Amino acid sequence: MDLQYLINELEVELLAVHSRQQLNDLRVKYLGKKSVVQQAMSQFGKLSAAERAVFGQQINQVKTVITEKFALKNDEIEALDLANKLAEEEVDISLPGDTFTAGSKSVIQAVVDEITSLGMGLGYEIAEGPELETDHYNFEMLNLPKDHPARDMQDTFYLDEKWLLRTHTSPVQARTLLMKQGKGPVKILCPGKVYRRDNDDATHSHQFYQIEGLVVDKNITMADLKGTLDLLAKKMFGEKRTIRLRSSYFPFTEPSVEVDVSCYVCNGKGCSLCKQTGWIEILGAGMVHPNVLEMAGFDSKIYQGFAFGIGVERIAMLRYGIDDIRHLYSNDLRVIRQFAKER
Ligand code: FA5
Repeated sequence: MDLQYLINELEVELLAVHSRQQLNDLRVKYLGKKSVVQQAMSQFGKLSAAERAVFGQQINQVKTVITEKFALKNDEIEALDLANKLAEEEVDISLPGDTFTAGSKSVIQAVVDEITSLGMGLGYEIAEGPELETDHYNFEMLNLPKDHPARDMQDTFYLDEKWLLRTHTSPVQARTLLMKQGKGPVKILCPGKVYRRDNDDATHSHQFYQIEGLVVDKNITMADLKGTLDLLAKKMFGEKRTIRLRSSYFPFTEPSVEVDVSCYVCNGKGCSLCKQTGWIEILGAGMVHPNVLEMAGFDSKIYQGFAFGIGVERIAMLRYGIDDIRHLYSNDLRVIRQFAKER
C-alpha cells in the first residue's frame, strides 16, 4: 500500500467536504471497517516478524496523520456552521418594528384610585365585600327589615329569597363592624360594583360603582363628616369648591344628608351643568344610625360614626365633562383614547 498516495488522496477529497455528513462519510471510507487502512491491517498476519515491525510503525503513523487531518477539517466545518448560523440570525435593524399600543386606566378606575389614595393618606383602610350579597347584609343589618318601605328606594336584582346582587356598598359597613367586635376605631373606604334594576339612561346604569366611607370612633360628630367631604370635594373639583348638606333620608343614617358641591363651571352662579342651581349633587351621607351600630355589636352610647356613599360614575362625568353615563360602558375606543390623554 502506498501510504503517501493514500494521504494525498485524502487531502484532495477533504477539499470537497463542506458538511459534517460528508466528513463522516469520508471518515468511514478512510478509517472504518472496510477502509483501505483496515484492509491493510488484515494482511498483518501474513507478514514476517521483521516486516510486521516496519509495517506496524508505518500504519500507526498513517492513522495518526489521517486522524489529525480529520480533526482539522472538523474544526473548519464547526467554524463554518457557526458563521452560517450567526448570519441567519442576524437582526435587520432597518426593518420597521412592531408598534405596541399601551392601554390606559378607565375613567372609572382613575376616579376610584384618586379617592382611595386620598383616603389612605388620611388613614383610611381599604375594605372589600362580595357583590353577590345576602338580604341580611344588604338590608336588614342596615336597619331595613323585611317589608320596610324604603327598600323600594333601591330596585333590587334578587336571585332568591336570601341572595341578591348588592344594591350599594353599604353592606360592607355591617360586615366590617361585625369583624371589629364592638371595638373602634373603624376607618374604611370600600370601592366596588353595585347593581340596581334601574332603566339605563344618561345618568343611570343598572351596574355602577360606589365608594363607601365609614368612620366609627368615640366623639365623632357631623362636623367631622362635613370636614371630610369638604376636603374630598376640593381635591376632586378644585380648591375653590364648597359643599352644601341638604337634609335627606337613609334608613341607616340619622341624620341623613344629600351632599352638593358648588358648580365648578359657573362657580355657583348657575349654568346648564348645574341646571341653574349653582350646585351639583355628588353623594349621600349621614351619621351612622344607632340601630346599625348596635346590631353589629357596637355600644351606640360610646361610639358614633359617619358614613357616605359616592357614585363614582357621576363624579367621573362631572370631572371629565361626560354627558352620558353609557359612554363609560360602550368600550368605544374613541371615548377611551380621549380620556386617556386627560390623565
Ligand atoms: C346609597 O346607595 C347609599 N348607600 C349611600 C349612603 C352611604 C348614604 C352611607 C348614607 C351613608 P343612593 O341610592 O343615593 O345612596 O346612591 C348613592 C350614589 O350612587 C348617588 O348619589 C349616585 O351618585 C349614585 N347612583 C345611584 N343610582 C345610580 C345609577 N343607577 N347609576 C349610576 N349611579 C347611581
